[in-house]
Formats: sequence, structure tokens, C-alpha cells
Amino acid sequence: MILLDGKKTAADIKEEIALEVANLKNQSKKTPHLAAIIVGDNGASITYVNAKVKACERVGFESTLIRLAEDISEKELLNEIERLNVDRNIDGFIVQLPLPKHIDEQKVLMAVDPEKDVDGFHPTNVGKMALNLPTFISATPFGILELLERYNVRTSGKHVVVLGRSHIVGSPMSILLSQKRTVGNATVTMCHSRTKNLKEITLQADIIIAAIGIPEFLKADMVKDGVTVIDVGITRLKDASKKNGFKLVGDVAFDEVSKKSEFITPVPGGVGPMTIAMLLKNTLLACERVNY
Ligand code: GUN
Repeated sequence: MILLDGKKTAADIKEEIALEVANLKNQSKKTPHLAAIIVGDNGASITYVNAKVKACERVGFESTLIRLAEDISEKELLNEIERLNVDRNIDGFIVQLPLPKHIDEQKVLMAVDPEKDVDGFHPTNVGKMALNLPTFISATPFGILELLERYNVRTSGKHVVVLGRSHIVGSPMSILLSQKRTVGNATVTMCHSRTKNLKEITLQADIIIAAIGIPEFLKADMVKDGVTVIDVGITRLKDASKKNGFKLVGDVAFDEVSKKSEFITPVPGGVGPMTIAMLLKNTLLACERVNY
């Protein structure tokens, strides 16, 4: 079993980005600047956004964190987005999801200038991604592609089973891995809550991407020997023995599934850190468009 070490790989990528930022600074070019909007007090979201901002500082980016109250109106949030759209100092920005129920998420994502949409959530960028045109690929799918590439996991001609059809992970992942690209050319089966005979399908998978948000859903009896498993799940479960009061659990029963795996990502330390590294990469790409 080979562990796909997202923590180490993300650290390598951040080091590469830091070198590029140092180069930009040496040439008196613009320093990449990422902004993040967070609405409300969702503990997990605040943790993720803080990690994104901290990562910016580590690689030498500028960053701006905009915290808005839970009861902010949709109009006020849209105004804030417009402000960032026109701010020439900001290369890219994200609106952390989920948003409070009274705000129309789709409307908000569509308000972001596609050129600054480093999350790759705007329909224009999702469309470009689906057509295999150059664009911002969402950080989590981008991170998974990068992890597979850096560990030389072969995908061409392989049967990939994607569990989950979310707009952020399952859906883009199934599109990307079936495309003609370095990490791609796979035969993809997308499974979701209405899929019948799931175990029959997962048992045929060479690679499984688990992105359903159900802790330890994928068990050893659902996978074949030599499988590659990418665990995107990060559910917080209460755990009094931990200093912060919870533990992170993936969608995969790691202890039993890892015994049958050729490659597998851990949780934490797998896909999660890669997501942050690729958000930085997208911000660097956004800034390069300004610099040239
Ligand atoms: N919520 C969960 N994942 C993400 C992400 O990648 N970007 C944003 N903006 N919100 C999220």
C-alpha cells in the first residue's frame, strides 16, 4: 500500500509557488492577492477559510479576509462581490460555501467575475472545464488530478467509480477523468444516492473517488484487491479525547480498505491540504494574466 500523501505534496506545491512569488517580487511584478468572503459563524467554514488565508501568507501572497454577518442581505453580499470584481489589486476571490439559507447560492456564484473566480464555480468556468478549455479547475478536483499525477497513478483505460454527484467534487471529477488529458482517459461510472447495486459497481473499480460525506461508508468488502482510493470526505465527529473536541473522518473505512489498496489517501492529510495548494495555484494563474 502506498499512501498518497497530500500534506507532503501540498507542501511541495506551496514551495514551488513561493519560489514563483519570489521571482515576481524580484522583477517588481504584482504579488498575487487572494480575497475570501465568509458569511456567518459556521465553525468548519471558518477553520477552512483561515487555513486558506494562512497558506497565502506562507507563500508570500497578499490576502484579504472579509467576514460578513449571518443575517447580511443577498443584496449586500452581491455589492461586496462587485467591489472585489472591480478592485484591480485583487487577482482572485472566493465566497466560502455553504451560504445561509436566505441567500441564493447560484446567484452569488454567478456574480463573481469569471476571470477572478479562482474556485472555478462560475457557470462560464464550469462550461470551459467541461469542454476541456483552459480555465480555473475547482481546487478539490484539481488537487486530486495533481496528486494522481505526482504519484504516477495511471488512469488511462482504467475504470474509475465516482461516489457522489456534487457540483464541487463528484460531477467535475467524473468529467475531468474521462477527458483526453494527462490524468484522464478513464472509463468513468458516476454513482449517487439512487444508484442500485452499488457494491457490484465499486467491486469493478480500479480507482474509487469517494465524495459523499458519509463517514467510513466505503468498506473493504466493496473494493477489489489493488484498488486506488481517493477519500474526499471530511466529516467532523465529536471526540472528547481530542484537544479541539472533534476528529476528522473520511468516507472510507481506512484501516480495512487500505489493506486491499495499491494507493490510498489518508484523512486528514490527503485531499484536504491539496485543495488549499491548488487554490493558491489558481490565484497565481489569475495574477499571471495581469502580469503579462
Ligand atoms: N466549501 C467546501 N468546499 C469549498 C470550496 O472549495 N470553495 C468554497 N468557496 N467553499 C467550499
